[in-house]
Amino acid sequence: MHIGIIMDGNGRWAANKGFPRSFGHRKGAKRVSEIIKSCPELGIRTLTLYAFSTENWSRAAHEVSSLMRLFRGYLQTKYLDIINNNVKVKFLGDTNPLPTDILKQMQKLEFQTKDNDGFYLNIALNYGGRDEIVRSIRKLAKDLLSKDLKIDQINENLFHNYLDTAGQSDPDLIIRTAGEKRLSNFLLWQTTYSELLFSEKLWPDFTPECLKKSILEFQNRTRKFGLETSKIEKLINH
Ligand code: FPP
Repeated sequence: MHIGIIMDGNGRWAANKGFPRSFGHRKGAKRVSEIIKSCPELGIRTLTLYAFSTENWSRAAHEVSSLMRLFRGYLQTKYLDIINNNVKVKFLGDTNPLPTDILKQMQKLEFQTKDNDGFYLNIALNYGGRDEIVRSIRKLAKDLLSKDLKIDQINENLFHNYLDTAGQSDPDLIIRTAGEKRLSNFLLWQTTYSELLFSEKLWPDFTPECLKKSILEFQNRTRKFGLETSKIEKLINH
């Protein structure tokens, strides 16, 4: 099972308690660790976290730098934990504008975990769904010009190989916290048939127990993939 999470509400969580927004992000990062740890026993094989969007650069400079500090610290402190727990990490997004030292840490972590297969963790950092599609088209166009690729060979499966999530299954479920009911440019291509679940909890309050409840709700929904119910039943019973 693949779950994507839009972790929203850190700022409101902090403001409600009279703390600066950066404190909310720090609490949010603690929650990230707990949620990751709880995944295997909940049957989650892949988790994709929306950590920083292409739009987040427009936040106040001090908030952007406090988030970058947080990512830097997180990568440093969790590095060995991730490697030793058979986690394969993949970063989604346009990495170019990120600070060089963070980028190096990210590349090192991806390289060191490339053969792990216990759990797949995608971290969307400077990620935008439209940006991903445009970057993929650019890569594909280069191959059209330089390789033996013909226009007629372009189809959905081929295009999938150019995305940041190449080779991965699409998310079964997308969870967004803090009551907002939007995708906000998250995994636009990959969420075509994902179930969407919106929680009122602010991200720092979203516990592994909340994740478990979300999965139970997901399991109670019928997934249609645009098919008639009778055909789905046949597929499920097959
Ligand atoms: C949205 O809350 C959250 C973010 C923009 C950042 C998400 C980052 C983390 C949870 C921290 C660490 C992540 C990792 C992977 C280590 P918001 O600030 O938009 O909240 P608001 O809508 O209440 O203002």
